[in-house]
Amino acid sequence: MNTIQLLGCGYAHPKQHIDNHYLESIIDTSDEWIVQRTGIHARYVATTETTSLLAAEAAQKAIEDAKIDKKDISLLIVATLTGDQPMPSTACLVQEQLGMMDQRLMAFDINAACSGFLYSLQCACAMLKENECALVIGAENLSKIIDWSDRGTCILFGDGAGAAIIRKSAQGKNVWHFAQSKGDPKRVLDIPGKTLSDQPCVNVDEAYRYLSMDGKEVFRFAVGAMEEAIHQVLEQSPWDLEAIDLIIPHQANVRILANVARHMKLSMDRFYVNLDRFGNTSAASVPIALAQAKAEGRLHEGMKIILVGFGGGLTYAASLMEL
Ligand code: COA
Repeated sequence: MNTIQLLGCGYAHPKQHIDNHYLESIIDTSDEWIVQRTGIHARYVATTETTSLLAAEAAQKAIEDAKIDKKDISLLIVATLTGDQPMPSTACLVQEQLGMMDQRLMAFDINAACSGFLYSLQCACAMLKENECALVIGAENLSKIIDWSDRGTCILFGDGAGAAIIRKSAQGKNVWHFAQSKGDPKRVLDIPGKTLSDQPCVNVDEAYRYLSMDGKEVFRFAVGAMEEAIHQVLEQSPWDLEAIDLIIPHQANVRILANVARHMKLSMDRFYVNLDRFGNTSAASVPIALAQAKAEGRLHEGMKIILVGFGGGLTYAASLMEL
């Protein structure tokens, strides 16, 4: 059993806020269709902001919120599927940007798509020793892997970063985790990688192609996966659903959340929702929502919260935290 303190949170987003009306000017869509089918009104889209830059800004805010010396951080994990480059890892770039090169620190990335922050949180909890701190970040620049001519996907996604500082401590509170990976044989959520060559020793096109998605299949998977992940963490804990004060879910589509709520006989106000302003920011979505909920005064000592998400892989995960 881990006892963890959630010391601080922060989030960052690019300057450009793109509303649905702007998308009406580049693809055949309407604000009404997007709002009805997804609940999304606008999203932030990066121009000059890199994933590491957004991650470092969110991390700096989390460090300030936690009121710790950054020298206390011994583990830095960035969850992302859109890191700046394959190498160095985005975590190492963030380490540099935060001026944390001269300290004992392990930094690496995790890719579990939109479940990435929850996978990273679980890894950090398992890896920390007593009184050590971890900086766990979810950060994305999804707009660079979106096909802006595909109205079935481009309306959904946005860019941003969220960060949390946790400490393993005897004064901490309980946390329970669940994570599952399933494979994706039908490739319902896919970004094909570099082209293979049938000739050895020749250069190949290294470019990543655009995200493709079977929206209906992903929708079906998402509802079942979120429900299962919530039940799985509850089963490990002494609590039932009634005892949970707030659920902070992956922000993909308000209709997915409404379906989960209906199946679980929960009212929607038990879920924190910010997808109307952010869209789906993949691995950044849960930590941005967590940081916003904290900044808005929605989190209090003694509360029990569930963070839950799903994504490409296919992956899904949840963490139940006592605050
Ligand atoms: N604007 C206007 N019309 C659109 C549109 C858009 N942006 N995108 C699709 N349409 C059209 C389709 O062409 C289709 O038209 P047709 O009936 O004439 O063929 C119609 O709207 C219905 O499309 P469909 O794909 O069946 O809509 P949907 O209700 O399944 O909603 C999604 C589409 C993508 C919003 C929905 O499936 C979804 O959110 N899925 C989950 C995606 C997700 O969460 N992905 C991230 C996982 S981490």
